[in-house]
Amino acid sequence: MKRGKTAVIVGAQWGDEGKGKIVDVLSHNFSVVARYAGGHNAGHTVIIKGKKFVLQLVPCGVLRKGCRSVIGNGVVLDPLAFLKEVKMLREAGVQVDGNLFVSNRAHVILPYHRMIEMGAENAPGRVKIGTTSRGIGPAYEDKMGRRGLRVADLLDSKLLKSTIENACREKNMIAHALFNSDPLDPDSMYDEYARAAEQIAPFVADTAVLLNQALAEGKSVMFEGAQATMLDIDHGTYPFVTSSSCTSGGAATGTGVAPNAIQNVIGITKAYCTRVGGGPFPSEVQGEVADLLRARGNEYGAVTGRSRRCGWVDLPLLRYAQMINGVNWWVVTKLDVLDVLDEVPVCVGYKINGKKYDSIPALATGFEQVECVYEKLPGWKKSTEGAESFDDLPKKAQEYLRFLERESGAKIGMVSTGPERDQTMLLPEFAAEVLEPTEKSQSEKSSTEKSSAQKGSSEKSSAKKPASQKGAKAK
Ligand code: GDP
Ligand code: IMO
Ligand code: MG
Repeated sequence: MKRGKTAVIVGAQWGDEGKGKIVDVLSHNFSVVARYAGGHNAGHTVIIKGKKFVLQLVPCGVLRKGCRSVIGNGVVLDPLAFLKEVKMLREAGVQVDGNLFVSNRAHVILPYHRMIEMGAENAPGRVKIGTTSRGIGPAYEDKMGRRGLRVADLLDSKLLKSTIENACREKNMIAHALFNSDPLDPDSMYDEYARAAEQIAPFVADTAVLLNQALAEGKSVMFEGAQATMLDIDHGTYPFVTSSSCTSGGAATGTGVAPNAIQNVIGITKAYCTRVGGGPFPSEVQGEVADLLRARGNEYGAVTGRSRRCGWVDLPLLRYAQMINGVNWWVVTKLDVLDVLDEVPVCVGYKINGKKYDSIPALATGFEQVECVYEKLPGWKKSTEGAESFDDLPKKAQEYLRFLERESGAKIGMVSTGPERDQTMLLPEFAAEVLEPTEKSQSEKSSTEKSSAQKGSSEKSSAKKPASQKGAKAK
């Protein structure tokens, strides 16, 4: 039996590469989109004709009519955050009923997770990670400690009550002893979460079965990564990482789809680089250039509003991300941000104590000794915004992209030159290899598109046309 196409979308840097936008564009050609890791620490921005959505838990496929969305077992789910997002989507006219599913095996974030995290982040002597304060780390700790509460357990009111009572007793004592925190009240917590459980129940499913059935029926599945390679608990810049497996391997464990069912791994990288929160960032820049990148790229956290640290593409890091994830296609985003630069530096290697290195240090302190070796590529000083095809890009921008491609071990399949859905080009080889020839009719519109169309607006959606029709040329 023919199985449907599969692809993992994974961040190659420290997050915020534009995964949300790319998932939205590609969701036209996929039947199901599944999140596999992280929680509402993610902030995935999608802009469709000026209307902005920031999705934290719900996969970006939800915005595409006819696409099913799954929150996999690898995700940690804050029930209140989930319901808030569902409410926001309903109010925006986006369908969530009958097409959005939550894994019964996903772990639940409860208020004591946030309490422990806030205490730990501010405790003297602890390394401050600069987390998003969403309780992500402590929820994964409880999962691995085999004392977590899963979505299936949330729906069992007796189990919910006893878990909350026991956990509050233990966590209140720990948080008071270690961080002098005020205790949380288990009774009011139970009331609030039992009410939330009722509203979540209709979304709950055995999503591993759902996804495997979809594949067996020949449907295509896209796995939406959150966070990124360098924030992965195993492969990132530990301890300045998040607490989940955000790399492509996590797509299998985080959804229950076997690794040999995954065909393509699409790494998303900005045309430069950013990081939010603490930790190493060898190619970081300061001062005027950083301010320019931040202003042009609007580099402020989608969730916390924190200003993002900015720097240049780091090739040793990109090669590492290619290796760890098995990236076979790159998507380069935010090329337009570099349009005004005279030259674009790229970190092509590392030096430690004068000696050249190409590997990534395992120790966070090892990064402190890293000195980047830069190669400066000429800027193109022309607008690339919304360019329709690779050949339409200024020659020097093409050379920049080809340089990244040559040095990073995978081909470029898409280039993004603006935040809107239609400011995206797909290269023909990528479209042919990765995308299912869509059965969905050309007239299919996302629910949001539909409402704008009714208002009489017209769309220039280059991303939706087959690449061959756009004259987009592969390298
Ligand atoms: P994610 O977490 O990887 O989904 O990325 P975020 O949504 O947190 O951050 C990416 C930001 O860049 C968002 O504000 C997007 O709207 C914006 N964006 C995405 N692609 C492009 C692009 O090609 N050009 C520009 N200028 N902005 C982009
Ligand atoms: P998306 O999916 C950027 C960072 C935090 C912090 C570290 C640990 O939008 O790319 P956590 O709250 O997860 O325990 O924080 O990870 N971080 C992100 N940075 N984008 C994200 O998600 C992030 N999710 C977590 O800033 O440094
Ligand atoms: Mg983000």
